[in-house]
Amino acid sequence: MGLSLCSVAVLRGLVLKLLLFRIAVFTTCFASNAHAVQPFCHDDESSALLQFKESFVIAHAASRSEGAYPKVLQWNSETRNCCSWDGVECDQQTGNVIGLDLTSSCLFGPINSNSTLFILHHIRRLSLADNNFNYSQIPAAIAQLSGLTYLNLSGSYFYGQVPFEISNLHMLTYLDLSNNYDPYTSEKFLQLKNPSLKTLVLNFTRLEVLYFSYINISSEVPSLLSNFTSLRGLSLENCELHGDFPTKLLHLPNLQVLFVESNKNLSGHIPEFHERSPLVELRLSNTGFSGRLPSSIDKLESLKLLDIGRCNFSGAIPYSLGKLANLTKLGLKENNFIGHIPSSFHNLTQLEILILDHNKITGSIPSWLGNLTKIEGLELSFNKLEGPIPQSLSKLMNLKYLYLTGNHLSGFLEFDMFLNMKSLTHLQLNWNNLSLVFEKTNINATRSKFKLLGLSLCNLIEFPIFLGYQNELEWLNLAGNKLYGQIPKRMLNTSVDTLMVLYIGGNFLTGFNQESTVLPWVNLRIFDVQYNMLQGPLPIPPPSIQLFDVSNNKLNGEVSHLFCNMSSLYHFSLSNNNLSGMVPHCLGNSSTSLSALSLGNNSFHGVIPQICGNSGSASSLRLIDLSHNKFQGQLPRSWSNCMMLEVIVVSNNQLVDTFPSWLGSLPELKLLALHRNGFYGVIERPKMDVVLFAQLHVIDLSSNNFTGVFPSHYIASWNAMKSIESNGLKYMRAKWNASLSTAYYFSDSEIYKMTVTSKGVDTSYQGIPDIFTFVDLSDNKFEGDISDLFGKLKALRSLNLSNNMLTGRIPSSLGNLTYLESLDLSRNKLSGQIPQQLTQLGFVEVFNVSHNNLVGLIPQGNQFNSFDASSFEGNPGLCGDQLLKKCSTSSSSPSPFPTAEEDDGDSESLVKLVWGFVLAGYISGLVVGVALADIMINRGALNGWLRSYLTKMGKRN
Ligand SMILES: *[C@@H]1O[C@H](CO)[C@@H](O)[C@H](O)[C@H]1NC(C)=O
Ligand SMILES: *[C@@H]1O[C@H](CO)[C@@H](O)[C@H](O)[C@H]1NC(C)=O
Ligand SMILES: *[C@@H]1O[C@H](CO)[C@@H](O)[C@H](O)[C@H]1NC(C)=O
Ligand SMILES: *[C@@H]1O[C@H](CO)[C@@H](O)[C@H](O)[C@H]1NC(C)=O
Repeated sequence: MGLSLCSVAVLRGLVLKLLLFRIAVFTTCFASNAHAVQPFCHDDESSALLQFKESFVIAHAASRSEGAYPKVLQWNSETRNCCSWDGVECDQQTGNVIGLDLTSSCLFGPINSNSTLFILHHIRRLSLADNNFNYSQIPAAIAQLSGLTYLNLSGSYFYGQVPFEISNLHMLTYLDLSNNYDPYTSEKFLQLKNPSLKTLVLNFTRLEVLYFSYINISSEVPSLLSNFTSLRGLSLENCELHGDFPTKLLHLPNLQVLFVESNKNLSGHIPEFHERSPLVELRLSNTGFSGRLPSSIDKLESLKLLDIGRCNFSGAIPYSLGKLANLTKLGLKENNFIGHIPSSFHNLTQLEILILDHNKITGSIPSWLGNLTKIEGLELSFNKLEGPIPQSLSKLMNLKYLYLTGNHLSGFLEFDMFLNMKSLTHLQLNWNNLSLVFEKTNINATRSKFKLLGLSLCNLIEFPIFLGYQNELEWLNLAGNKLYGQIPKRMLNTSVDTLMVLYIGGNFLTGFNQESTVLPWVNLRIFDVQYNMLQGPLPIPPPSIQLFDVSNNKLNGEVSHLFCNMSSLYHFSLSNNNLSGMVPHCLGNSSTSLSALSLGNNSFHGVIPQICGNSGSASSLRLIDLSHNKFQGQLPRSWSNCMMLEVIVVSNNQLVDTFPSWLGSLPELKLLALHRNGFYGVIERPKMDVVLFAQLHVIDLSSNNFTGVFPSHYIASWNAMKSIESNGLKYMRAKWNASLSTAYYFSDSEIYKMTVTSKGVDTSYQGIPDIFTFVDLSDNKFEGDISDLFGKLKALRSLNLSNNMLTGRIPSSLGNLTYLESLDLSRNKLSGQIPQQLTQLGFVEVFNVSHNNLVGLIPQGNQFNSFDASSFEGNPGLCGDQLLKKCSTSSSSPSPFPTAEEDDGDSESLVKLVWGFVLAGYISGLVVGVALADIMINRGALNGWLRSYLTKMGKRN
């Protein structure tokens, strides 16, 4: 009856990503009664069972396990002996029903305390796991079954507070209420607050197994549990536990299974072990456990599974871990482990999965890893491993996943070593210093069929020929290589119906005599070749494509209307190429999945497609970047239907339109850049008092022909700019729900990029920190006073109103903008004195009020003393140390000195400005500086930037 009779935990499937080592725990403790003489069952019990059956609908979808079938179907009143019914167990002597196993029986419908189930007073074992009781509460009448020793209600859509009455079942040795949660949203259905976990278990002194995963417990782990010396299995995965985990539990003499993963606020450590422990599986991942792994961990000699990923463990991986010869799965990812992979690991001959990624592991990849032939998953990404990839890994014939992304691996790598590994489907070599070498012979003998290949930053100069045979490929990342070449003309003549292969790069084709030998990538979902030197026309992916990123190449020609048929496409990026022509207007009514559309920096012309024109089309669009093209006409009014839009960048086009106040109602809009177009006219105050552009962080209307007074109503509406919480440097990004992302270390979002113009020079931001709020109305013909309300935009980092026709005084309220790093009011007609309050602007690095009609003494103190003459020149009435100009006693008297040199080359001061930002950013960690620093890094060393940004994305959350 004990746990030893049961199969405790069956390792099922090999899901390497998502949650590490998800193991389906199921238990069968019901004795088989096939051999015994059937006792005869009691009439009241058989009719109770029949009524119980009748209270449900049989629905196959109600059970999720593979072997599910409706056991109750063959129950009927003709076979009067219920003891022979499927799932029913009777006492051999008395004939009373003592066991009922309706696990995975496709039962659907509510259950309550009136259920005839609770008449079966003799029942000792009950399982209703894996059915759907339609959000019923666990009936309090369960307490009537006081003889229960085994109760399993897992995964059955029970809802609400676990009833206090369960604590009457003090005979229980096995209690499983786990996994009553929504498999899609992970919403927990059950809670254990009153009674609490502590109160509930007080009576269960005989408990051997307690599985409570996915119950909202929200308490500490009661230390009382360490008195439960019979405990063999304890699962408290994802229970919102907090506090310190009672270390004594790890010393329980019979504990074989301990799962407490996914309790972020649960801290703890792994103690020294003085005695042998029977632990077989220990899962602590995604918790606040920290400290070192004790070397006495070798006392856990039965351990098969150890998963402590996503915690805060540090120190070296103990050598003694290599003594746990039964270890099959070892997960240490996302900790701070240092040092080498212990050489003792060569003893771990049973090892199937080794996950060490996102640590600080140094040294080389040991060649003896090639002897651990049971290995199916080897994940060493994002460490500091160096040296070559040992050839011996090619002996790992069971290896399915090999992830080595983001290390310092180097040397020439003969890629052919992977082509005979028949199990290998997922290979990531991105972002190392490897140079891949491809033998061109024997391509036909390739045994590997890749689904995922990550060869970003691998110094590739041509498309590897073997790719032409990889017809199962779903994910291909060749970003940041040196791929070049042109698509041969004859390829372009291929009929569009068969153009399902990506024909890119002349070299791709050199190995083939006939096109027909190329196997099409019909399953391709992710295609990322950004940052190469590819030429020729845009390749056409298969309709399965989800992410298509060819940005930063030299592709030319037009965009085929075939892209309109790609109904799963969510990320479509063509930026920074030489593409031209009109963008197919059918894009406007195609793909409902489209989330990001980046066409920036090409030569597209014509009218912008009416995206979101049809109801439902492109309704998930979050980012649209059309900047630096030759688009004409107006902004499509249909965009006001793109309710998810967060970013609109149409800078540097030839658009002629009035201010798009109609975008103001988009609830998510964070960034609007209209810079350098022909936008014109007076911006009208909205007719009604509605809040518009409430989420806006960045607005750039610079270099247009706007006139009149900028309506203060808008400034009053920019609620997001009034307070933005800063929790570390995060970039504004459009998120999409791509289930792929977790599986592939792939970003689930797009970092917004934009160009900011200062004094006629464009500067590209590779990322906009989400605390970066920015208003640029410069280079227009705005008139009137600067609104006091700007002083309410407390989160503002940069305000540029330069080169307009603004008059009046500088509002002293600007002194409230304590986060401001850049304030440019130059080249207006501002008058009066510079308000003393502006000296409160503690972070200002750039301050420019030059070329106005300001007068009087320049305020002294704080940052102001560091600004030089260029900040103030061109104001004949200003005086102060910065201008090397003494004030006369009357502050408004004209200057006795000539004004500073007018011809202070703009570009020169910009350089100073940019470097000023960069240095300031590096030194002070300021936002503007950091954003600009990215560009400088980007210009100087693309790879460096890519690496840092991709690493950032790799170590998300
Ligand atoms: C239980 O049965 C009684 C009488 O048949 C009924 O009044 C009551 O509503 C039922 N309770 C539930 C929870 O269905
Ligand atoms: C424990 O069991 C006793 C007797 O069966 C019962 O009265 C009590 O309510 C139960 N629960 C707790 C928390 O003591
Ligand atoms: C655990 O058991 C010990 C002795 O058996 C007892 O002194 C202690 O109070 C118990 N702890 C709890 C929390 O019940
Ligand atoms: C290791 O596993 C084998 C096979 O499952 C088992 O017989 C043996 O007892 C295990 N060793 C330990 C120390 O538990």
